[in-house]
Amino acid sequence: MGKKSRSEILICHQTVPDDALPDEKDVLEQTEKISAALVNLGYDVNVVQADSSFSFISSFAGNKPLAVFNLVETFNGNAVNAHLVPLILEQLNIPVTGNSSSAIFLTTNKVLAKDILLANNIPTADWHIKGRGEEFQKGMYIFKPVSEDASIGITGENLKNLLSSNEADEAIEYFEKKYKIPFFCEKFIDGREFNVSVIGNNGEPRVFFPAEMIFFQNGHENRILCYDSKWNEGSEKYDQSRRTFDLGDEDRKLIKKLKMICEKCWKIFKLSGYARVDFRVDSKNTPFVLEINANPCLSPDSGLFAAAQNEGISYDQLVNIILEESLNEVKGKNS
Ligand SMILES: Nc1ncnc2c1ncn2[C@@H]1O[C@H](COP(=O)(O)OP(=O)(O)O)[C@@H](O)[C@H]1O
Ligand SMILES: [Mg+2]
Repeated sequence: MGKKSRSEILICHQTVPDDALPDEKDVLEQTEKISAALVNLGYDVNVVQADSSFSFISSFAGNKPLAVFNLVETFNGNAVNAHLVPLILEQLNIPVTGNSSSAIFLTTNKVLAKDILLANNIPTADWHIKGRGEEFQKGMYIFKPVSEDASIGITGENLKNLLSSNEADEAIEYFEKKYKIPFFCEKFIDGREFNVSVIGNNGEPRVFFPAEMIFFQNGHENRILCYDSKWNEGSEKYDQSRRTFDLGDEDRKLIKKLKMICEKCWKIFKLSGYARVDFRVDSKNTPFVLEINANPCLSPDSGLFAAAQNEGISYDQLVNIILEESLNEVKGKNS
């Protein structure tokens, strides 16, 4: 590594194998785009990969960088351990962009996050995991990985009409065997889908205008954001889902509710930097939180940037806000 300067920003991301799928390769595009933005902003930029040998720690030896721009989504191939990198940086007292290790830990495990949401009276769809003996409610369920993001392991076959917890457990076992990661199932909310992006502003949440996901019927019989609709460019499902900020007056009350829930989530999970909350809304206009994404994707075609752009914020400005916020936070913590 070359000599460090106080204007150095170190971008940190997970290692990406050559044969990685598009959801994993996406972090390389984010690195490239954020690096270009940081250079435009006048910073020196270096990139390190966080691998399980922890060798990236040696790049912090000697002169510390001004901050680490944390793009780590998985550690040692596992989303559950993504919080380890900010944990190490917190220990070393190096400013890190985005969320704290604890916020990342508490939101990455969807089942844990749902328990915390429920304990705080925030509606989230009923769910079932193996070995938890609650009374089972019959109906349509969606099977999801407990901790992976990016719609990994989600296709049309993940929707099932279930009559008993035995049926649910059998299907969970099927998906766990197929994808080799833990699964759970959640009541399917047959309704509209929104994602709402939030950035930190001196520690307080600034909630952007919600985006609705529109599904065009011919390619989307299930109206869900499955793996193909997020990553398989050129596939029918990819082409047949769109994000829109064009919401009508009749949605004013709903928008207010969505924004209020995001503010609550920000406080409850002690989020910081940037986050995105995914919702489905049922026929009674009740929003259910599907998941909280601490440190969601920041690529130019991401939901977070689309929401920022919708409020007149450029890509370089967004990167600058996120970086500045991480520097303010550390000052705040140390004072
Ligand atoms: N309970 C649910 N009801 C309806 N659709 C759902 C539900 N849970 C997930 N989905 C669909 O699956 C997509 C991915 O689920 P999500 O929980 O956001 O996980 P991730 O984005 O981390 O893979 C959502 O965007 C939505 O389209
Ligand atoms: Mg999601």
